[in-house]
Amino acid sequence: MTTALYPPTVTPASRALPLLPFLGRFVRNPLRAIPQSVYEEPVVTYGKKRTLVAWVTDPALVENILVRNAELFLKTRLDRRVLRPIIGEGLLTAQGESWRWQRKIASPPFRHSELLTYVPAMVEAANICARDWRARGASPLTTDVEADMTDATFNVVTKTILAGISKADGDTIKRAGRAYLDPISWEVAAALLQYPENYWHPGKGRMKRSAVELRAIVRRLVAQRRQERPEGADLVARMLDAKDPDTGEPMSDEMIADNLATFLFAGHETTAKALTWALYILARAPEWQERLRDEIAAVTGGNAVSADTVNKLPTVSRVLKEVMRLYPPAPVMTRVNAAEVEMAGNVLPSPTLIVMPIFIIHRHRVLWDDPNRFDPDRFLPEREARYPRTQFMPFGFGQRICIGSSFATLEATAILATLLQKARFEWDGKVAPEPVSRVTLRPKGGMPLIVRSL
Ligand code: HEM
Repeated sequence: MTTALYPPTVTPASRALPLLPFLGRFVRNPLRAIPQSVYEEPVVTYGKKRTLVAWVTDPALVENILVRNAELFLKTRLDRRVLRPIIGEGLLTAQGESWRWQRKIASPPFRHSELLTYVPAMVEAANICARDWRARGASPLTTDVEADMTDATFNVVTKTILAGISKADGDTIKRAGRAYLDPISWEVAAALLQYPENYWHPGKGRMKRSAVELRAIVRRLVAQRRQERPEGADLVARMLDAKDPDTGEPMSDEMIADNLATFLFAGHETTAKALTWALYILARAPEWQERLRDEIAAVTGGNAVSADTVNKLPTVSRVLKEVMRLYPPAPVMTRVNAAEVEMAGNVLPSPTLIVMPIFIIHRHRVLWDDPNRFDPDRFLPEREARYPRTQFMPFGFGQRICIGSSFATLEATAILATLLQKARFEWDGKVAPEPVSRVTLRPKGGMPLIVRSL
């Protein structure tokens, strides 16, 4: 009999707060500003006309937004304003025909047959991490696994879909990316209040400098690639060859830079967070950690994880799903309605900011039994089959579903399985970081864990 594990969560506001206290909580952690009622009701609205927000958690309504009436619910100006300085009008933020064209060009590297060829790079990234832990001498060693998983997943993306980024550029990109995201809730709050883009807030200067630094690197990389045209069919090569179906024009260097930045970020931050929270949970649930280790040993026979074995680890897969239920790496999605709509008795004029808080959908009192409890058996096949498709959706849903979802799942499985072959993860009995939304779901204060090399 194992003890029930209730890993750290966010304490919501007990009721909808007036604007100032709302913003006070929002800048510290946007999830803290969301009232308790959002965990219980299908739709909750907040604010007035010009800045009306609707939190939508009912799976049928979410499916309506993302699938059935997707043309009515568009990507928001807020998302674009907050992310544009880094990722411009790339795939994540583009709309309409431009989005359709970019999605088509970016899809081939994510096909199933291609994905399996990346497994050795994924395993190698985990091996580098385990070797680094060993090289640091002490065993056990206390290390910030959030930083380690960021290095590992960045390593994967620059060895697979975006080949050939130097270590120096990579380090700058990771550092500048983090510096940009640290104060981002201030920028989101300013955008919610519709303050002008040049509105000053703490961290604004740092965000601007980081964006300039990052864009300079991606622009240089695109110019270099256009000049050198090395062999290969990675994403940048595909974009350099792409022709607009209507005009026959090539993709502009600026759009290629937008996508290079988009894929560098979307392609590593999120998976790093999934792995970080997974290692934390496993450190706190040693019996599950041993079960996974046994499954991995039985399937691999003690050999390296491979394209053959990586998809034969059902318990690892169940644990990863339960981790992403409790800690969805992208905790919030937003849309705006192009026309007035009615939802669960609420009339939402256009434009209303529609927030689908994945974090809360995944912990909704009406949808889940004992929602804050870690229980991978929720994802036993017969139980999983009963959930509506938008009740568990770490990767979003519909036409804008994450293009990298299979890549990320494969990567998280390969890296986690390899790390469990190489080390045991322990909890010091104290670390219980609050999950904080900074576009991705970060552990407040990092994730120090004890690592014992095997
Ligand atoms: C555990 C890892 C990941 C999670 C949880 C995640 C989550 C998401 C979510 C929720 C969306 C939908 C956003 C929306 O509809 O508003 C999205 C979109 C996207 N993701 Fe991921 N993602 C992950 C990994 C990746 C990876 C590995 C890549 C690329 C290599 C990637 C690239 C993208 C891109 C380009 C989009 C925009 C797609 C479009 O609008 O057509 N993501 N992701």
